[in-house]
Amino acid sequence: MTSLTDLASPPAAPAPRSDRGPAISFEAVSKHFPAADGSLLEALRGVTFDVPCGNIVAILGPSGSGKSTLLNMAAGLIFPDGGRILVMGKRTDAAVDWGRVGYMFQDDRLLPWRLAIDNVALALEAGSMPAAERSRRARAALDLVELGGFGRSYPHQLSGGMRSRVALARSLVGEPEILLMDEPFSRLDAQTRASMHRELIRIHAARRLSILFVTHDVEEAVVLADRIVMMSARPGRVRRSIDVSLPQPRLGTEGAAALTAELRASLEAEPAQEVPP
Ligand SMILES: Nc1ncnc2c1ncn2[C@@H]1O[C@H](COP(=O)(O)OP(=O)(O)O)[C@@H](O)[C@H]1O
Ligand SMILES: [Mg+2]
Repeated sequence: MTSLTDLASPPAAPAPRSDRGPAISFEAVSKHFPAADGSLLEALRGVTFDVPCGNIVAILGPSGSGKSTLLNMAAGLIFPDGGRILVMGKRTDAAVDWGRVGYMFQDDRLLPWRLAIDNVALALEAGSMPAAERSRRARAALDLVELGGFGRSYPHQLSGGMRSRVALARSLVGEPEILLMDEPFSRLDAQTRASMHRELIRIHAARRLSILFVTHDVEEAVVLADRIVMMSARPGRVRRSIDVSLPQPRLGTEGAAALTAELRASLEAEPAQEVPP
């Protein structure tokens, strides 16, 4: 809010990036879906939270709590029926620059008949970029995820962790400022998942991305996030929002273990019961 003292002082210099508005804001968002029996299913109720610019925010909640719905709304794929969502300050039903937003899905969605490098380059094919530039950028994105030597492999020739890296490279190749991630590592074994977490944290620091990361895994949220938004069972509501300031890397540290235990206990204290319609 502008105060009288603000008005009296000289105009401020442009704010540095970290002082800009949130990358994403959910404001009193609600969403219903038509159910099979013709009634309306209430998926989300009054969800309000921000993804500050440059932060990693984890949405943590049980299955069916509306996590993917929130992500799909942040991507402008579906729209809320109450409240609003702002991406880089713009309403998702208006003029968001979607080229600045990347999406990584739960399954890697690699095309089996395309080389790794061509799977990455696919994300650039909708625009008018020349093929040589697309290849150059795809190679750079594979280098970024430390898979530079595997561009000419087919997906079936790669391990689960490597496929996950290709999918991450594909979501980064357009150089997004915001990355939306829907349980992207949930199918990996614990060790590979931990290496993807390290990779993501490294890339996040290098690229100054804002990341909205969906998970149902408490430890994953604690290891990655600057802020954890805990959702209740359907209809999804924000039950708690926790800012995490533990230094990285967190895996295996006392602080991370203590927070993980605390959040697990709080989840058990309120069983994930759905509210009847
Ligand atoms: N397109 C849709 N049509 C009908 N119901 C849907 C649709 N998308 C999601 N739902 C329902 O909304 C609820 C929340 O779904 P979702 O966002 O996928 O939850 P989560 O990702 O947390 O598991 C679930 O009960 C789901 O069945
Ligand atoms: Mg989901």
